[in-house]
Amino acid sequence: MLRSRIAGTGRGTPDKVLTNDDLAKTVATSDEWIRERTGIRERRILEEGRTTSDLASLAGKRACEKAEIDPSEVDCIIVATISPDMPMPAVAVTVQQKIGAGTCAAFDISAACAGFIYGLSIADSFIKTGMFKRVLVIGVEILSRVVDWTDRNTCVLFGDGAGAALLVPYEAKDADDRGIVSTHLYADGAGVPFLNIPGGGSAEPTTLKTVEAKRHLVKMQGKPVFAHAVKNISAAAMTALESNGKTPADIDWVVAHQANLRILENVAQRCGLPMDKFYLNIHKYGNTSSASIPIALDEAMREGKVKQGDLVLMAALGAGLSWGSALVRL
Ligand code: UT7
Repeated sequence: MLRSRIAGTGRGTPDKVLTNDDLAKTVATSDEWIRERTGIRERRILEEGRTTSDLASLAGKRACEKAEIDPSEVDCIIVATISPDMPMPAVAVTVQQKIGAGTCAAFDISAACAGFIYGLSIADSFIKTGMFKRVLVIGVEILSRVVDWTDRNTCVLFGDGAGAALLVPYEAKDADDRGIVSTHLYADGAGVPFLNIPGGGSAEPTTLKTVEAKRHLVKMQGKPVFAHAVKNISAAAMTALESNGKTPADIDWVVAHQANLRILENVAQRCGLPMDKFYLNIHKYGNTSSASIPIALDEAMREGKVKQGDLVLMAALGAGLSWGSALVRL
């Protein structure tokens, strides 16, 4: 049975750390509120002059190095992001140039915090159909450039970073062998008002007025997003298990989107998954949207926590609303 498997992962995270106490100096918030309501202690901020494609390229190169595959051998680059270098062209083509990936296929996808799972699913399908052999999937966000730093409801939540996985074909001997076991993708456009960047597109083309009204920055209604995240991440996680005849006991690690520790605690309770199976790094990076799962996966693997052969459950929900899950035997 032809599958795709993750041959290598990598991440690129900025050096600059912004703590909760730093934020408390500029907006009416506190370290205590942010830690208790979200689990976040600090986030990374990309220095001026560097871009989304810089961080994405770093993560992509590291994934290629880990997989021992030269970037020139990559057949396709998929970048999941909602904070690109520029509206067009795709970040993926700049990454292709920066890492030296020849003239391979390269495009971006927009599924916000579910972007990496969408990218993984597309890459898996490309490999299974024989369209491409080596597919680099990168989740990257420089959210510090699209956040309203005067809005305490959002600015305390987000951070910058990039993570990547290189997928290759793998002939699995049985259903329990290595590889991407399944992916499930969902979306509900009724959720557009809950989380969006309203300005800068065809709905509200950029004008002095839209910029003055900060329409080019992230707007979020936290409560409905929270409720949908708990419900839909839990449902997608259970579908990943049930469609493969697995139970929570079969899962070695949950590497889920790091948006809010309380969301993950609720998901754990609903699914009967113990919290000690969740790899957590939200305290260090905040919510890095499409980058959060690949950053966590790379960190967990390099720390030696998540190992080859482990059964890993991934799940995420974000703007759209878009959500999904993936079951992966590493
Ligand atoms: O990646 C996917 C997308 N995003 C998410 O998954 C985020 C989902 N939502 C959340 O994580 C939570 O809804 C938040 C962390 C954003 C907010 O937590 P909450 O428990 O839902 O708080 P709230 O919005 O109901 O606000 C409670 C109070 C409010 O004050 P009042 O109206 O009760 O006086 C807020 O104004 O907390 C206030 N508040 C703050 N206080 C201090 C909101 N933000 C802050 C802040 N510091 N940073």
